Amino acid sequence: MKDVKRICCIGAGYVGGPTSCVIAKNCPHLQVVVVDSNQDRIDQWNSDCLPIYEPGLDVIVKECRGKNLFFSVDVTGEIEASDLIFISVNTPTKTFGIGEGEAADLKNLDFVCRLIANNAKSSKIVVEKSTVPVKAAELVNRILKANQKPGITFQVLSNPEFLAEGTAINDLSDPDRILIGGEESDMGREAVTKLTQIYQNWVEPKKIITTNLWSAELSKLTANAFLAQRISSINAISAICEATGADVREVEKAVGTDTRIGDKFLRAGVGFGGSCFQKDVLNLVYLAKSMHLYEVAEYWNQVILFNNYQKKRFAQRIIECLCFTITDKVLTIFGFAFKANTGDTRESPAIYICRDLLKEGAQLHIYDPKVSPKQIMNDLRSVLPEQRDSLDKLVTIHEDPYKAANNSHAIVICTDWSEFQNYDYQQMYDQMEKPACVFDGRLVLNHEKLTSIGFHVETIGKKLKRDALVSKVAS
Ligand code: UDX
Ligand code: ADP
Repeated sequence: MKDVKRICCIGAGYVGGPTSCVIAKNCPHLQVVVVDSNQDRIDQWNSDCLPIYEPGLDVIVKECRGKNLFFSVDVTGEIEASDLIFISVNTPTKTFGIGEGEAADLKNLDFVCRLIANNAKSSKIVVEKSTVPVKAAELVNRILKANQKPGITFQVLSNPEFLAEGTAINDLSDPDRILIGGEESDMGREAVTKLTQIYQNWVEPKKIITTNLWSAELSKLTANAFLAQRISSINAISAICEATGADVREVEKAVGTDTRIGDKFLRAGVGFGGSCFQKDVLNLVYLAKSMHLYEVAEYWNQVILFNNYQKKRFAQRIIECLCFTITDKVLTIFGFAFKANTGDTRESPAIYICRDLLKEGAQLHIYDPKVSPKQIMNDLRSVLPEQRDSLDKLVTIHEDPYKAANNSHAIVICTDWSEFQNYDYQQMYDQMEKPACVFDGRLVLNHEKLTSIGFHVETIGKKLKRDALVSKVAS
């Protein structure tokens, strides 16, 4: 097997882009070329305005681009030229046909594998980086082997990515672990060693775990399913807190100090979003069903059902608290991204909360530090097809949070951007309709201070103070 000198990464998205950048930074002896069929995306990667926002990414791109890091649309040319190919194309949930709403749509993966088989003029290591269902490597192998030319061999590895958006550069630079699954054969082990050697340029050997292909694929789904399950679990407790008077932040702390449980990923909120959690849990549900493990499927599906309930519950609480009449009321939405430090809105809870508020006739003023107005409107149109034409009248996107709050009845926090903590809420309060409310879906604000300003504050995981509001409304 040839030494790896040139790497190609197919798919210049949230996974492929940052991963390739960190490899290029840590392996100056390797040429890394990121390819994508989307010309606009590649043009952005080659400009000063990168297509994704990720803290620290621009610095690495500046340092390496043009030296050992390149962005190109020449997918076939780079397949031919490289020794190792990462596949990082998107694999969204299927929206039609068998497995609709659960199984991953593997059409991009399938397409790329055929492209590799047809354009490879030498043997390659092909690495699945995208999150894929268990046994996807079998599909990759089958397509490659069925189309391979004489004298050319392919070794398929599974090397799932565990980076989280917003902290991608840290996660990639100092990972908890690197997981590499390969075929249990001499060639398979050699390919695993080649990929291991690349990571060893910056990752301690003890953090590199090697497994068989199926274990690597299933571990990625399992890790995301466990994380999603923790969030749904604490969110379920948040509903009990609201009904009983317990405070979910206190419960999180008390429970999280048990070292067996740990304190990470225990923050209650409006529900999880992002491109991975829902997709991966649904993948697991589909996998279980396809093996007739219906109880297993039902168990994991509940994580998703609960997440949907949490988003709906929050929207209903806003509507209820505003006396069930939000028609024509102006509500200010702070945060549209699915989490802080990203401009990504895929499966963002804000989309569904805004949908439910718009359905009740509310007017929305939306502010997010990183999400573009076009993206926000596209997301809202996709969940409200029947209101597509009237949305422009109901939704205003603001660049200034203070202007967004002007004349509104309530501020709704949907994303945990830290800048929301530093605003002058007295100034906002003075410009708002009274009674002015804050609905903190991420528990990021200083509730006592807001209350002392005069706001009526409602948060996830704390008892409703309905009486207080009713008396305010009455007065
Ligand atoms: C996730 C996994 O963390 C990562 O390992 C995998 O590679 C991809 O999927 P990501 O979706 O980018 O990463 O973000 P993450 O930080 O996991 O947050 C997912 C969602 O859960 C966000 O909406 C976030 O706000 C929410 N969340 C997270 C909570 O509601 N509470 C928490 O305690 C943690
Ligand atoms: P992820 O979060 O998994 O990285 P993204 O949607 O951000 O997903 O990125 C996936 C990228 O893969 C997109 O830029 C898309 O254009 C690219 N892609 C999808 N199919 C192909 C293909 N057949 N050839 C090249 N690039 C592709």
